[in-house]
Amino acid sequence: MLVLVPPHPLLKHWLAVARNVQTPPPIFRAAMAEIGRILIYECGRDWLQTFEAQVQGPLAIADVEYVNPEKPVCVVPILRAGLTLLEESASVLPSSVTYHLGYVRDEETLQPKLYLNKLPKQFAEDSQILVSDPMLATGGTIVAAIDEMVSRGASPKNIRIICVVASPVALTQLSERYPGLRVYAAMIDEVLNDDGYIVPGLGDAGDRAFG
Ligand code: PRP
Repeated sequence: MLVLVPPHPLLKHWLAVARNVQTPPPIFRAAMAEIGRILIYECGRDWLQTFEAQVQGPLAIADVEYVNPEKPVCVVPILRAGLTLLEESASVLPSSVTYHLGYVRDEETLQPKLYLNKLPKQFAEDSQILVSDPMLATGGTIVAAIDEMVSRGASPKNIRIICVVASPVALTQLSERYPGLRVYAAMIDEVLNDDGYIVPGLGDAGDRAFG
């Protein structure tokens, strides 16, 4: 499994804003949206498919390439916090379709519980799927989410995950089960505490964004 942490100064900047406990919810959401925008951009770099065309420009006909609207990226936010990374997705991705997945982690057992599933019954095998969840902590939620997609025909090699902070525990679990995945993260945080929180992490990103 490939884990990429793009070395971009703006990613560092918005991560600093998001980590700051003094950051109020509207600014926290703005920071998450910017992190999401950068990670989606990086994710699409060698992934989005284009087709060649010609357009009449002001001075001449130009050979151009468009992102193929017939191959929309399937975007899967993991509610609630995953929504924050997708605030700017429509302006980064010319063509996408969104399927919401809602999981909440039981704070005692740390097990994920599915409460909303808007995935299609069946994915085409070549569907490109972009999953967003800001925190991969124990990894239970992201593994359950990928399991759900794969059970509906998604191919792990066509799934990319964007997250803000990931723990080594989650990345190990994910890579053992799905070695073909790619993960784009703003940072890897080494510590997972006894309550299942990433340290320093972001705290509870869902609560910080939505109260
Ligand atoms: C958080 C986070 C991930 C999950 C990570 O969501 O956004 O989805 O926990 O934990 P795991 O890797 O140990 O499974 P939470 O359950 O707090 O829901 P929320 O986004 O609605 O706040």
